Amino acid sequence: MHSRNYEHVVIDTAARPSRDDLEALADGCNLLVLPTTPDALSMDALLQTVDLLQTLGSDRYRILLTIIPPKPRKTGALAREAMTGLPLFNHGIRRFAAYEKAALEGKPVYDVSDTNAKIAWREYETIGQEILA
Ligand SMILES: Nc1ncnc2c1ncn2[C@@H]1O[C@H](COP(=O)(O)OP(=O)(O)OP(=O)(O)O)[C@@H](O)[C@H]1O
Ligand SMILES: [Mg+2]
Repeated sequence: MHSRNYEHVVIDTAARPSRDDLEALADGCNLLVLPTTPDALSMDALLQTVDLLQTLGSDRYRILLTIIPPKPRKTGALAREAMTGLPLFNHGIRRFAAYEKAALEGKPVYDVSDTNAKIAWREYETIGQEILA
């Protein structure tokens, strides 16, 4: 199998994996990263996934806040507060146009021409470091 040649394998799922998929993932992965934007509807969906993971007996998951609106909005901090007690990454991913450009151009975010491209890349590096810590 190809994955044997790599130390780290990242599997991307559909937005709301089914119970069966989630069970297989929870069993087969070292860590499930559960991304959510800090808005009520997304967080509601996320909490349902967390409930499901808890009934499946998995504690190998961590919540990643992403597309956090810039200051002065407090959306990110409020979302963090609302999820007190749940396993969150210490850092979040802020909203940057650089990610949209990257998707549009089919490039890694560090390769796009945008003042925040390097900052955007570093935010994910920080999450990587949190995972490995
Ligand atoms: N931090 C961010 N800041 C700004 N835009 C972002 C950010 N992250 C993602 N995006 C934008 O949102 C789009 C969708 O992101 P992404 O593909 O990661 O979402 P998804 O939840 O996996 O979507 P799907 O459910 O379709 O798989 C990206 O193409 C990008 O333009
Ligand atoms: Mg996706």
